[in-house]
Amino acid sequence: MYADLEKQTSKLPKKILVVCTGNTCRSPMAEAMLRESFRSLSGKGGRDGADIQVISAGLAAPEGEPASRLAVEVMKERNLDISGHRARSITRQLVEDADLILTMTAGHKRSLVAMYPEAEGKVFSMKEFAAGAGGKPGDGDGPGGGGGDIPDPFGGSIEAYRAAADEIGDAVERIISRFKGIESCGARGMVSMRVALGSDHGGYLLKEHLKSILDDMGVVYEDFGTFSEESVDYPDIGLEVARRVARGEFDRGVLICGTGIGMSIAANKIPGIRASLCQDTVTARLAREHNDANVLTLGGRIIGPVVAEEILKVWLSTPFSGGRHARRIEKITLAEGGR
Ligand code: RB5
Repeated sequence: MYADLEKQTSKLPKKILVVCTGNTCRSPMAEAMLRESFRSLSGKGGRDGADIQVISAGLAAPEGEPASRLAVEVMKERNLDISGHRARSITRQLVEDADLILTMTAGHKRSLVAMYPEAEGKVFSMKEFAAGAGGKPGDGDGPGGGGGDIPDPFGGSIEAYRAAADEIGDAVERIISRFKGIESCGARGMVSMRVALGSDHGGYLLKEHLKSILDDMGVVYEDFGTFSEESVDYPDIGLEVARRVARGEFDRGVLICGTGIGMSIAANKIPGIRASLCQDTVTARLAREHNDANVLTLGGRIIGPVVAEEILKVWLSTPFSGGRHARRIEKITLAEGGR
């Protein structure tokens, strides 16, 4: 199953079909949110995220019915208009035409595969797909992080619709992140960006190791020292790298000291810098998805070269999720101005 999932996230789909029961609540909301989010994908090979077609259908849809009033209202709160939506039933043609089918629950997936066995391999529950090849039920961060179902708000209050929309939104963010990861991968499988690199004596050896990894990845970098294991003061190098990133001379910074703590404290003094100390790939991914971290700090005496390498690759290739996280970062940016 997860081999199929990996295959599905290694290329952009052309047509996505979203499926729930009645096609009046969850799937029209998911359709609208996915369509909107795909617009944020940059072009690749002449194709833009906006070219990805997203449609929805129901396993037992009241043909031609509009979306439920509360679904329309909740989408309006997100500046999305689904008032023109009309419910439609699933058909063999719709299933055949789609190259990715996302269902709201595992039950929908089972029913769909039972009706159309040939679709197996391209049908996933939304949360399953959002969790990705490495995801297991319960993994990840927040409602969209692991397996599970999007709850049916049908007949419920506006809060139930908002809760379902939040869960769909979280899953959509994760899904878009995966596809954005593909979009930002260069020919050698990694992002092409300019990275400012620095360490003190405690991070010197790890820095040298990571330079060879960046070379293999084809990532352009500049080394701001230190150049030996002789004792130096980490703020001298950390502040220099952070200033250069803040000025836009580099897209990202990577700073290494003994623990990663001193570099993180120093770099975060520079307005515009969001330095994140990461000790595993989960925090590396979330530092990018949630915090749009532009400086990675590592502890050369805390983690080994292999873990550091994995952290670096994940951190460089994971895009920022935007959405509610952008609002939170905006608040931090305002605080930098003393407001
Ligand atoms: C240097 O001994 C050490 O303090 C430094 O590398 C770093 O860990 C500071 O946070």
